[in-house]
Amino acid sequence: MQIGPHQLPNNIILAPMAGITDNPFRRLCSQFGAGLTVSEMVISNSGLQHHPRTLQKTDYSGESGLRSVQILGTEPRQMADAARLNRDRGAQIIDINMGCPAKKVCSVAAGSALLKDESLVERILTAVVKAVEVPVTLKIRTGWDLANRNALKIAEIAENCGIRALTIHGRTRACKFNGRAEYDTIRQVKRYVNIPVIANGDIDSAEKARQVLAYTGADAIMVGRAAQGKPWIFQELSGKLSGNPVSPLSLSEIKTVVNQHLDNLYSFYGAVSGVRIARKHIGWYFDQLGGLPSEQKTILNQAQEPAQQLALVNASFTFITPRVA
Ligand SMILES: Cc1cc2nc3c(=O)[nH]c(=O)nc-3n(C[C@H](O)[C@H](O)[C@H](O)COP(=O)(O)O)c2cc1C
Repeated sequence: MQIGPHQLPNNIILAPMAGITDNPFRRLCSQFGAGLTVSEMVISNSGLQHHPRTLQKTDYSGESGLRSVQILGTEPRQMADAARLNRDRGAQIIDINMGCPAKKVCSVAAGSALLKDESLVERILTAVVKAVEVPVTLKIRTGWDLANRNALKIAEIAENCGIRALTIHGRTRACKFNGRAEYDTIRQVKRYVNIPVIANGDIDSAEKARQVLAYTGADAIMVGRAAQGKPWIFQELSGKLSGNPVSPLSLSEIKTVVNQHLDNLYSFYGAVSGVRIARKHIGWYFDQLGGLPSEQKTILNQAQEPAQQLALVNASFTFITPRVA
């Protein structure tokens, strides 16, 4: 899989997820063999570019993989400025978000709401591609709603504007996360354009990954929610897809991964925010492992500082039946 001058080590990509794909999580997924990770979305509004939270989202310290940052906005000039700024901050790929259905995003007609306005899409893509020499990629849904599935038209615009890879989540904006992702539109787009196409939506196993790749003909797959609480999914998928399956992680290896993740969260965000942000990841890890008794979950969520949280997490592993993940 090639994006502009960059050859990816494999074709399994971590999806951008606001509040999740931060520096510590991207590092973990890269360590487990994600071919590419994408940052949380960064709003292109110039007033927010120097906000500490924006800077944190684009802090790549300790990251070994390619640095792809996702920008979001509605104004071509602001989007171009945001692309330049992020290029200057070290981004090697700029990804444009036209896939996010969140209300606060759509109320300003950004994210997937933009799919409704093809001429604005064209102006944004042209402005961003012109602004930076690094490759620009685009992430979309299949359309605005089931009656307006215009992914083919958007893909054509993207290719003509110089977009170097296109990710398609197989749902419309109106579908939100309901129902199942469909792959027919992705297959049609892949047959229609000459740029690399990345298939996304509901891919959570090697069997599903294989089916989606075969059916759509896509160049790569992107995995989002299935990586929550399971960053090692990348080595599992790439091992099985390449015919060299790796042994599943043992419970003690998983414990080590969780400890490493939490340590990285504490050092990246500081003790107070680190403990707070860790809670959702801890929940996902234990859900993957079969779940904890509700009293133990309550105790875990009360931890207020790193050493206490780590001790409670490690003690919680005694509730898990040793089995391979
Ligand atoms: C919590 C959460 C946050 C997300 N944030 C973003 C985002 O910032 N940018 C984006 O393009 N997509 C975002 N998405 C969508 C994912 O990138 C992906 O397209 C979607 O989850 C479908 O893939 P999956 O079925 O593998 O999860 C988000 C999804 C989730 C669940």
